[in-house]
Amino acid sequence: MQRPQFATLLLLLQSVLLSFVILSSSKWIVKAQSLPPTKPDGFVYKNRRVDLGTIVVEAFFDPVCPDSRDAWPPLKQVLEHYGSRVSLVVHLLPLPYHDNAYATSRALHIANTLNSSTTFCLLEWFFKYQERFYNAPTHNMSRAAVVDEIVKFSAEAVGDTYLSAIASGFNDKKTDLLTRVSFKFSTSRGVSGTPTFFVNGFVLPDAGSPLDYNEWRKIIDPLVGAKGVQGADQLHFFL
Ligand SMILES: *[C@@H]1O[C@H](CO)[C@@H](O)[C@H](O)[C@H]1NC(C)=O
Ligand SMILES: *[C@@H]1O[C@H](CO)[C@@H](O)[C@H](O)[C@H]1NC(C)=O
Repeated sequence: MQRPQFATLLLLLQSVLLSFVILSSSKWIVKAQSLPPTKPDGFVYKNRRVDLGTIVVEAFFDPVCPDSRDAWPPLKQVLEHYGSRVSLVVHLLPLPYHDNAYATSRALHIANTLNSSTTFCLLEWFFKYQERFYNAPTHNMSRAAVVDEIVKFSAEAVGDTYLSAIASGFNDKKTDLLTRVSFKFSTSRGVSGTPTFFVNGFVLPDAGSPLDYNEWRKIIDPLVGAKGVQGADQLHFFL
């Protein structure tokens, strides 16, 4: 038997190390999953009731992502069109390369905790003025100064009377936890870009790009038209 070469030994060592890393990180994931949140993640649009016949759209957004912003008006229009037949749950995925994604996502959880009816107002407010919280304009600001801006900005949408409650929300570990849960939930669904949409649990293609109104109609019309067994014909759309 030939003596193993140095390079072979290195390779062996590398793979042992790699499996150690994989094993220890999967252990960590299992541990994280053993602590489910007290409530399912997500903001339900207009608290629409979900029953067996409702088509459930899940949208994964980042409040400072321009494509999420562009995706919102047509989706909102589609929800108006279908009324109670379609429900929407928005999940947040604060993207790591957007410096203020986590703090703005946290603001949404704070608003939702204070008065859940204001959540979507604030989301729209962020979408409308999100440039203010892009990386470049906040480049020279301290994190504390950015949070201060976000607090004042959020109070404009949620209500001035909530200003101090929003500020304390940023010191409350619970709102940090809720935002982490959103992040973990989104990544556990395999989502790594925004916007990403799921319809009745199936992911739509072209994640990361907004869908326009007509594209939404093409997806949902067949599902609404085809109730029960006939719906099976339409499944090919997703498969
Ligand atoms: C919650 O927000 C909604 C929408 O802005 C408002 O109409 C309602 O009065 C608020 N509720 C409370 C308790 O402040
Ligand atoms: C940040 O600060 C540097 C140095 O003071 C300055 O040159 C730059 O223009 C500032 N950038 C912004 C976006 O304010």
